[in-house]
Amino acid sequence: METTVQNKKMESGEQEARLLTVRDLTVSFSTDDGTFKAADKISFHIEKGENVGLVGESGCGKSVTALSIPRLIPSPPGNIDSGDIWFDGKDIMSMTSEQLRDIRGRAISMIFQEPLSALSPLHRIGRQMTETLLLHQDMSKKEAWQFSEQWLGKVGIPDAADRMFAYPFQLSGGMQQRIMIAMALMLEPNLIIADEPTTALDVTTQAQVFELIKAMKKKHTSMLLITHDMGVVWEMCERILVMYASNIVEFGSREDIFSNPKHPYTIGLLNAIPKLMGGRRQLKDIPGQVPSPFDYPKGCHFEKRCAFSMEKCMTEKPPFYECGNGHQAACFLLENGSGSMPLI
Ligand SMILES: Nc1ncnc2c1ncn2[C@@H]1O[C@H](COP(=O)(O)OP(=O)(O)OP(=O)(O)O)[C@@H](O)[C@H]1O
Ligand SMILES: [Mg+2]
Repeated sequence: METTVQNKKMESGEQEARLLTVRDLTVSFSTDDGTFKAADKISFHIEKGENVGLVGESGCGKSVTALSIPRLIPSPPGNIDSGDIWFDGKDIMSMTSEQLRDIRGRAISMIFQEPLSALSPLHRIGRQMTETLLLHQDMSKKEAWQFSEQWLGKVGIPDAADRMFAYPFQLSGGMQQRIMIAMALMLEPNLIIADEPTTALDVTTQAQVFELIKAMKKKHTSMLLITHDMGVVWEMCERILVMYASNIVEFGSREDIFSNPKHPYTIGLLNAIPKLMGGRRQLKDIPGQVPSPFDYPKGCHFEKRCAFSMEKCMTEKPPFYECGNGHQAACFLLENGSGSMPLI
């Protein structure tokens, strides 16, 4: 027991430069068909002011990882089995519900794909924004109302004074998303978790929303951005985490991930970005499918789809290999310090 406490103290000292450290996070779900791990020994960190992208195919555990940070995994059916989550020097795993409530919204705010999951359909926009402010800030009702109205203006909502009296359903999807961004940013959180914030919107509105997040976000605010769009990750993030079937398989600076990818899965993801060649869109899908979480292989989870699979990949879990400058990938091909991998 003592060792654990000492480790925790040591880690707490480590936190000063970092806003968030997640270590060995494992999350499982219990269903009628049995229990499976949706996130398995996930470790990563986010520096103060840093924008980190989390990418990977559908179902690989991105949202589960993100929801675990403010301990929002629905339980049951979900459970954080193990792991440490340190946020701004504080141990999230040992926080009381009251401490968690305080940190959610004020210090960590979330922007979801579906604005109506964050906005109540029953209450007017002005009331919802004002209540959020009153919960976390020392303001009078009048001040909170005026502040909310100013923020509607800032995120580009026309006729802000009138819109304060609107119900969410009276607004377009793009406007609802802008309001959710205003609510997420107006409390000046330390960390914004944006989980596919624009997937439900048309392409033009998507671009506007990202511009807005970029413009409104304070320099010291960090962001974890989950998206399927590698172009958006390139535009918005300095560092990238690549996740596959409940594991992080590679992470590094955006330049290293895009121009010097090491894990065959990352290479596959990059090859799947549409490229214009001879005037035609070329796209190379990764062959095969993500395995069912009940059926993840014993060794490397990507083994069945990997063109470079070796015998030990089936039985042993590859550790992370350092590729320089904090760039790491979990692939046995790097075991002997092999250089650049061929692009498949
Ligand atoms: N509430 C839940 N109950 C049961 N299983 C869940 C629940 N939430 C997530 N899962 C399962 O956990 C796994 C990881 O899901 P997660 O939502 O994190 O994927 P994702 O990477 O965010 O995918 P997408 O890109 O489609 O959003 C999936 O197999 C999913 O079905
Ligand atoms: Mg998701």
